[in-house]
Amino acid sequence: AATTRYEAETSPAVCTGTIDSDWPGYTGTGFCNSTNAIGAHAQFTVTATAGTSTVQVRFANGTTSTRPADLVVNGTTVASVPFESTGTWDTWATRTFTVATTAGTNTIRLNPTTSAGLPNLDALDL
Ligand code: GCU
Repeated sequence: AATTRYEAETSPAVCTGTIDSDWPGYTGTGFCNSTNAIGAHAQFTVTATAGTSTVQVRFANGTTSTRPADLVVNGTTVASVPFESTGTWDTWATRTFTVATTAGTNTIRLNPTTSAGLPNLDALDL
């Protein structure tokens, strides 16, 4: 099926931080720069079918360190995502996952597992 792009800056997505547009290469009107702390997060609300769904997360990490995060689907942690350095903040990369989804509305959330927080997050495709 065709994918839908869910922008991190567009409600009902949640970004606990700021929506920024100071690093080029994002899609839509900006990206989520979540607060650099455990407890900060980004959440996407998506429409899916029952079964497995392929999810692509577009991000930038301009530091030299990974920024690991838990991938949480409908409240359950299903994977740990490293979010490696992309070299610069204006270099965006995509990571692809397969997750179990239910028919209709699903939440897909990224919870950083270190105080460095999340990378900058542009969008999620499903
Ligand atoms: C810099 C950068 C931000 C980024 C932040 C971070 O301030 O400009 O876009 O979010 O670093 O370390 O998370």
